Amino acid sequence: MKTSFFTILITILSLSLSPSLSQRCNVKDEKTLLKIKKSLGNPYQLSSWNRASDCCRWYHVQCDLYNDRITSLTIYSANISGRIPDALGSLPFLETLIFRKLTNLTGPIPFTITKLTRLKNLTFSWTNLSGTIPSFLSRLTNLKSLDLSFNNFTGTIPPELATLPNLQTLHLDRNRLTGPIPESFGTFTGKVPAIYLSHNLLNGTVPKSLARVNFTWLDLSRNSLHGDLSVFFGTNKTIKAADFSRNMFEFNFSKVVEFPASLSALDLNHNRIYGSLPTTLTGVNLQRWNVSYNRLCGEIPAGGNLQKYDNTAYFHNRCLCGSPLPACY
Ligand SMILES: *[C@@H]1O[C@H](CO)[C@@H](O)[C@H](O)[C@H]1NC(C)=O
Ligand SMILES: *[C@@H]1O[C@H](CO)[C@@H](O)[C@H](O)[C@H]1NC(C)=O
Ligand SMILES: *[C@@H]1O[C@H](CO)[C@@H](O)[C@H](O)[C@H]1NC(C)=O
Ligand SMILES: *[C@@H]1O[C@H](CO)[C@@H](O)[C@H](O)[C@H]1NC(C)=O
Ligand SMILES: *[C@@H]1O[C@H](CO)[C@@H](O)[C@H](O)[C@H]1NC(C)=O
Ligand SMILES: *[C@@H]1O[C@H](CO)[C@@H](O)[C@H](O)[C@H]1NC(C)=O
Ligand SMILES: *[C@@H]1O[C@H](CO)[C@@H](O)[C@H](O)[C@H]1NC(C)=O
Ligand SMILES: *[C@@H]1O[C@H](CO)[C@@H](O)[C@H](O)[C@H]1NC(C)=O
Ligand SMILES: *[C@@H]1O[C@H](CO)[C@@H](O)[C@H](O)[C@H]1NC(C)=O
Ligand SMILES: *[C@@H]1O[C@H](CO)[C@@H](O)[C@H](O)[C@H]1NC(C)=O
Repeated sequence: MKTSFFTILITILSLSLSPSLSQRCNVKDEKTLLKIKKSLGNPYQLSSWNRASDCCRWYHVQCDLYNDRITSLTIYSANISGRIPDALGSLPFLETLIFRKLTNLTGPIPFTITKLTRLKNLTFSWTNLSGTIPSFLSRLTNLKSLDLSFNNFTGTIPPELATLPNLQTLHLDRNRLTGPIPESFGTFTGKVPAIYLSHNLLNGTVPKSLARVNFTWLDLSRNSLHGDLSVFFGTNKTIKAADFSRNMFEFNFSKVVEFPASLSALDLNHNRIYGSLPTTLTGVNLQRWNVSYNRLCGEIPAGGNLQKYDNTAYFHNRCLCGSPLPACY
């Protein structure tokens, strides 16, 4: 009994200590990762990337259980300077690529990324990338999540992004993007992703085409967008949460009579919305609601959740009145 126990123990030990027996790592992937490490300037955070150990055990990467190819590369908060290495394109099994809080990572998104056709999750966020958001990202048709927030991207939103068939989340917020919301965002096939475009320099009017699809989560706040938001409302729509605050939207709110039952958050503060608040709003289960700093008039309808908010949800309008604001005369 004792002997066999020790035999097993020793076998396990020798298996885990001897790289030649336990090596899973694909040789090509190992070579590519070492190239990436080198082009990122051999940062301290990647010191586990070393030929002495199996690359499937290196920090910041994951291997597939069956074919042992690198499927995930995730680097957070490292002192990395330089550009996105071209060698990245030689990790063809990558499904997750996340670079986050690498504030010295500069330059554009390289074309080589189009080789990573298995990517589901692509995040370059809180980096210092610049240039335009490339339309070639639309070749990554397996993408479920694309997050390019908190960078220095300029130029317009490429219309081609609307052709991504599996996209669930699109984060382009906190950049310096200009121009309009693409017309093509009214042609998303399948489910429309949750879309975050806040804190950019977007301008132009809301395209009418957007009426053709159902948005669920939409953040357009802090841009310079114009136009009419009624395309997002109506009883047949499924919008849940929308932040339209701090833009230049201008339309008669009295004319928006029907709101989707799904609506639970609506922020319209700091726009140029006029008319009065429709009484149908009392039938909407609003968990977040703000129409301050607009040009609204008339009595705040009584009922529903509308009196659950304090006066700051309504103040700084042209002539809104009634609870929670002072009574109308
Ligand atoms: C970025 O690079 C500068 C200059 O090399 C350096 O001083 C700074 O610490 C770096 N920051 C980070 C977060 O890597
Ligand atoms: C980042 O690295 C640079 C040079 O490699 C060094 O001067 C700087 O102090 C480092 N910054 C941090 C935050 O570690
Ligand atoms: C981004 O890069 C610019 C210059 O290219 C630099 O001035 C700025 O400090 C960088 N931002 C961060 C957060 O590192
Ligand atoms: C963008 O660039 C400007 C100046 O080039 C810099 O001050 C800023 O920190 C950069 N933004 C980010 C998120 O790195
Ligand atoms: C992508 O990765 C981020 C960060 O790990 C995670 O929060 C997000 O849920 C992932 N998205 C998908 C679609 O896997
Ligand atoms: C949007 O801004 C750009 C640059 O500031 C300007 O050239 C363009 O005319 C604007 N477009 C609209 C529709 O306001
Ligand atoms: C939006 O969703 C609702 C409810 O699922 C559906 O009845 C309606 O036809 C959809 N509208 C569009 C434009 O897809
Ligand atoms: C809502 O959908 C129903 C059934 O699809 C349709 O008859 C009706 O015209 C639609 N209403 C609006 C305002 O689009
Ligand atoms: C807004 O629309 C309502 C209802 O159609 C109308 O009575 C009102 O005069 C309009 N207000 C303005 C300022 O155009
Ligand atoms: C509404 O928005 C204004 C402006 O940002 C803010 O001051 C106020 O606190 C907000 N009120 C509520 C109830 O969200």
